[in-house]
Amino acid sequence: MYICSCRALTDKDVNNAIREGASRPSAVYKTCGSKPECGRCVKAIVNLIKEHSQKACQT
Ligand code: FES
Repeated sequence: MYICSCRALTDKDVNNAIREGASRPSAVYKTCGSKPECGRCVKAIVNLIKEHSQKACQT
């Protein structure tokens, strides 16, 4: 599923970046070798980061 239509980043790309240590949307873009364009995807990226941190707290 595409998270960022401007840069063609998928949920898999974003999740991989988060697993590699990206803890902010800017770091996700950087890890993916990209830059934000319109910014509409920032909220979705933040939500994925929150999901990861909640899962980390549950383990
Ligand atoms: S949807 Fe990600 S920058 Fe536009």
